[in-house]
Amino acid sequence: MNTLTVLPDSGAFARAAALLKSGELVAMPTETVYGLAADACSSQAVRRIFEAKGRPQDNPLIVHIAGMEMLDQVWQRITPQARALAEAFWPGALTIILPRARQLADEVCAGLPTAAVRWPDHPVAQKLIEAAGVPLAAPSANRSGSPSPTTAQAVQQDLAGRIPLILDGGACAVGVESTVVSLAEAEPLLLRPGQIACEQLSAVLGCRVRLSPAVLHQLEQGQAAPSPGMKYRHYSPRAKLILVKGSAQAYAAYVNQQLEQGVFALCFDEMRAVLQGSCVCYGPQTQPAQQARQLFAALRTLDAQGAQLAYVQCPDCRGIGLAVYNRLLRAAGFQVLEL
Ligand code: TXA
Ligand code: MG
Repeated sequence: MNTLTVLPDSGAFARAAALLKSGELVAMPTETVYGLAADACSSQAVRRIFEAKGRPQDNPLIVHIAGMEMLDQVWQRITPQARALAEAFWPGALTIILPRARQLADEVCAGLPTAAVRWPDHPVAQKLIEAAGVPLAAPSANRSGSPSPTTAQAVQQDLAGRIPLILDGGACAVGVESTVVSLAEAEPLLLRPGQIACEQLSAVLGCRVRLSPAVLHQLEQGQAAPSPGMKYRHYSPRAKLILVKGSAQAYAAYVNQQLEQGVFALCFDEMRAVLQGSCVCYGPQTQPAQQARQLFAALRTLDAQGAQLAYVQCPDCRGIGLAVYNRLLRAAGFQVLEL
């Protein structure tokens, strides 16, 4: 299959909508990362997503809507808590989980009684959902396990030959995937940190939002995953990563002793002048939003430059920094070195 990358003009939307209506896949930009979209109500279309990504069948997909009126097609009913979060954060980088509607293809929810839903804040994604006229199931548009794509080129790299069309909307503004919160439990539960922080959700809901332990800790063998995606290797470049905690001075001193052929530093911009070997930078030390924006491209750069091993400078965990930390922790397979 030939994979076409096109700018999102009116011809591109017509072509993309026609593909989606005939059960094909289209990669679309969102403000978080690029998504691989299919008609969420068609089993045959949704199965194609799992095939193209090489995604495990038991890992459910996020459904994307454009407008509250589409919610009837995805959830049984909208609860007051969901309405409050939607009013505060949609369109935006927040995914909400509630009991699913019957119209959705079973494959979207991977057998779970719930559906994860998001209204993205990107004009191209919104126009595409409107043109398709149905909710779109869309996981990140990467091969399963590899870093999420934040540019059309990264989608090409992973999915060329496997999908017919990529809409090129430039680089994603947020850079890490949406915050995922489940409202299907007795108490709201944060399953994945993103741009919208736990405290922001608590402030709107007026109650505690629990952070799922799996956000910061590896699941024990045989322990049930609150979100199936937590079970799998994630965001990983081919290079092995080790997350290093400690002061900038301690990091520099340690890493300078380790750097040799194939060994890299994945560090803040300020470190470049201090380190004596190969480094890939992922933003200024005090700018977590910029770190989020650059993170996945930096992981891809490590591979492009032939890194075998990279020592990663640990980010600050506040705000969106928690999302950056969570992705790095998973990319490193929870290997942490404390200096
Ligand atoms: O920002 C984003 O959320 C991007 C863009 C494209 O919207 N999408 C994205 O999708 O990151 P994906 O499939 O890569 O990640 C979805 C995560 C997975 O970890 C999955 O296990 C979890 O959400 N998930 C989906 N439905 C769920 C459900 N019903 N219950 C629990 N977890 C669910
Ligand atoms: Mg993903």
